[in-house]
Amino acid sequence: MGDGSFTPRLGNMKALLGIVAGAGASYGIYRLISGGSFKRSKKNDPSDTAGVRSSQPDEVNVALQRGSLLAKDLIREFEGIPIIAGFLSDPEAEARVQTLNALNNLCMNLPNQEQIKVYVPQVLELIEVSPVNSDLQLGALRLLTNLSVTDKHQHLLKKSITLLLSILVVSNETLQVQALKVLVNLSSNPDMMDDIVQAQVRAPASVILLIDARTSPAVLRRLLLFVGNLKAWRPSAQVADELRRKQDCLFRVMLDESSQFHSRLVQVLSHPDGEIQAQVARILA
Ligand SMILES: *[C@@H]1O[C@H](CO)[C@@H](O)[C@H](O)[C@H]1NC(C)=O
Ligand SMILES: *[C@@H]1O[C@H](CO)[C@@H](O)[C@H](O)[C@H]1NC(C)=O
Ligand SMILES: *[C@@H]1O[C@H](CO)[C@@H](O)[C@H](O)[C@H]1NC(C)=O
Repeated sequence: MGDGSFTPRLGNMKALLGIVAGAGASYGIYRLISGGSFKRSKKNDPSDTAGVRSSQPDEVNVALQRGSLLAKDLIREFEGIPIIAGFLSDPEAEARVQTLNALNNLCMNLPNQEQIKVYVPQVLELIEVSPVNSDLQLGALRLLTNLSVTDKHQHLLKKSITLLLSILVVSNETLQVQALKVLVNLSSNPDMMDDIVQAQVRAPASVILLIDARTSPAVLRRLLLFVGNLKAWRPSAQVADELRRKQDCLFRVMLDESSQFHSRLVQVLSHPDGEIQAQVARILA
């Protein structure tokens, strides 16, 4: 392919991003594949684009008609995932948001997840550097939620606990809930416990204040679920002592029975939401 084709190809790629992000019609994907943008097409003689066009469509068309999940297999098979993920560093914020949405949709498919997990560090960095309550942060958290639904890739998030907790303190309810979905998932995995309890809490006083009747029930319920899961972890007396000496570590701030967090839990025992009451009772039991 000559230099001249670069710009239109990039344009095509952005169109693909929009399509996958919206999980919409597969026609655009078909056009891109048949148009020679993806690797399998490029393996053919590059001068013979007309030949590529005429040799691919039937096979691709039939496959696409078998449903969108298969279309997602096709994107992987045509090595489309790294191309799509490349837009995570696009200068336009909107393109980065669309990229996250596209990766999210591709995440429904487990073999795709194997490729998408490589981008976890970049997704975490996007959360760090993007504005509070931005669509970018929300899209990134949704992707992390998807990747943490099973315990397969959760270890990739071992170092993200501090970041996820800081979202709880500064963000709106939508993002708080999304961050908690990830935290609840991670806390259901015994292999993650050591990292979670040792994680640094950036604004401990603000985390403690979330245990309050004025916190939205959607947030409070998930926060209690997270803490309830962590309570299942029982450190030896020696480990507990070590953790108590670690300034602002999660154990000391949220789990230790002498913590302020713990004493505030008693106050929400009389919360009007029955599920919240039950969760607090379970934690204090
Ligand atoms: C990932 O997220 C999308 C949209 O946010 C959702 O439709 C899909 O079911 C999720 N996939 C998994 C594996 O949870
Ligand atoms: C929070 O911010 C996100 C991202 O900007 C937005 O989509 C959402 O509607 C906001 N939620 C609330 C409850 O304001
Ligand atoms: C992970 O979170 C999602 C969304 O909240 C939930 O549907 C799923 O059951 C959770 N998985 C685990 C292992 O807790």
